[in-house]
Amino acid sequence: MTTVQEFRDRAGGDPLTILTAYDAPTARIVDEAGVDAVLVGDSMGNAVMGYDSTLPVTMADVLSRTGAVVRGTDEALVIADMPFLSYGADEAEGIRNAGRLVSDAGAAAVKLESGPHTVELTERLVNLGIPVMAHLGLTPQRVNQLGYRRQGTDRDAARAMLELARDHEDAGAFSLVLEHVPANVAGQITDALSIPTIGIGAGPETDGQVLVVTDIFGLSEYSPSFAREFGDVAGEMFRAVSAYREAVVEGEFPAAEHTHRDPDLDDL
Ligand code: KIV
Repeated sequence: MTTVQEFRDRAGGDPLTILTAYDAPTARIVDEAGVDAVLVGDSMGNAVMGYDSTLPVTMADVLSRTGAVVRGTDEALVIADMPFLSYGADEAEGIRNAGRLVSDAGAAAVKLESGPHTVELTERLVNLGIPVMAHLGLTPQRVNQLGYRRQGTDRDAARAMLELARDHEDAGAFSLVLEHVPANVAGQITDALSIPTIGIGAGPETDGQVLVVTDIFGLSEYSPSFAREFGDVAGEMFRAVSAYREAVVEGEFPAAEHTHRDPDLDDL
């Protein structure tokens, strides 16, 4: 089982790989393929729940999906995302919610979409024994303020991001996601930190990469320009469903090997 400490110590080493997962069978595949960490992202809102943003995702959703991912995972570090307004409004509630993801659902760590308001919370959580992954750049819970645009695109914004990255490292975060930021900004933040940076749409100079699993599967209705489809799972699922339907319609399924008859029950 990968520990937070082992993950943290990989800064500057072999690239770290993270994928999201939201259910046990997918987590099992991701884990068996050797990915270092599974993120139960609030991207589940868009990826598997049919919403057009992450905002409707609740604590109950993340708790239930994190439990499933933990049950499907042997080796990878499982990180649970804190959904919109599960933290930030009230400190005690944020701490309790983070704690439930660890104690009730079994996550090894939590991820917070970060900003100036999460520095203190990060420190409190870490002091209480809850490892925190920070997240800067495009933070989709701020879609109504930022849209889905690239962040850190001018000098002031990039410098502010670098400062916030340092603040979160000082607060005890064990890793930092950088989403949709210029690659040279991500590279300089990576150089400035001793914890691993994990990029998504942030170029190749981070310590690792994360993608949404439905994007790499080719299952997403919409995927961002920085993602890449590494397979055609949607096509394979469609072929399986069509073959099943055809076999039933043609009377080929269920066949003898799928069928049990009890001769004692012939005359009812
Ligand atoms: O929710 C999520 O899956 C994320 C990653 C894309 C970083 O935040």
